[in-house]
Amino acid sequence: MGLSVNGIEMEWRERGEGDVIVFVHGFPFNSAMWGHQLAALPPEWRGIAVDLRGFGASELGDEPELGMEMHSRDIARLLDQLGIERIVMCGQSMGGYVAFEFWRHFPDRVRGLVLCDTRAAADSPETQRARHHLATRVRAEGPGPVRDALLPKLLSPASARKKQAGPLPMVQAMMEETSPETMARALLGMSGRNDSEQLLRTIDVPVLVVVGSDDVITSRGQAEMLARGIRGARLESIEAAGHMAPLEQPAEFNTLLSKFLVGLPRNSLSTRSAFGI
Ligand code: MLT
Repeated sequence: MGLSVNGIEMEWRERGEGDVIVFVHGFPFNSAMWGHQLAALPPEWRGIAVDLRGFGASELGDEPELGMEMHSRDIARLLDQLGIERIVMCGQSMGGYVAFEFWRHFPDRVRGLVLCDTRAAADSPETQRARHHLATRVRAEGPGPVRDALLPKLLSPASARKKQAGPLPMVQAMMEETSPETMARALLGMSGRNDSEQLLRTIDVPVLVVVGSDDVITSRGQAEMLARGIRGARLESIEAAGHMAPLEQPAEFNTLLSKFLVGLPRNSLSTRSAFGI
């Protein structure tokens, strides 16, 4: 499905009807990574998995960097057009960075957050330099340098051992669909993202933090830091999963997600917007 949003054609895939959860993919993936989740939502939930600008089937547009705030504004505009006010947002890795920006700019639209294999801290100057260098290489050489840097770290040893029978083909296919220019602009966008550590204490909606036990990109320590910083947040670790927990161990992830969604306060659709607090 597609709609014109902030000057680009934005695509998403969706399933179900009812209260809305928006799924936001990581880098350099797309909405396809949430297929297992869309297929197993609890009754009376509608899942919307977006293709962020430049990824999947969404147009890239002209902006020189794909910043996290811009992605969050694209999602808000898409929701406006769909007539959806309040949502749960579930973001994996870069999708988590987008979720923090969505909270920063549109807190009244958020009923709950699922923060998966992600972190609150901004890039260090060293990481920023590395991302700029990688962006330059991707523009000159194609996607190889991103693939080579990421692929060995994405999956748990258990998932990697499954080879073609595991999540590897899906991960590779999503990477192949992402153009080098999108990769470059996303790397620049991520390198300039805000630090969200201070933002954590402002989050006053239910939050589920999920981390793969073998995630070497965003570690358990970073997930613990998120859970400590957000009042009442619940932390869950998924065994034998790496950085792609929803794709590597979908049954476990879906059980946690369903429990979280079903446990949300029923009145959370209206309270904040009705009284403006
Ligand atoms: C991702 O999975 O979205 C990226 O690894 C995030 C990052 O590079 O910081």
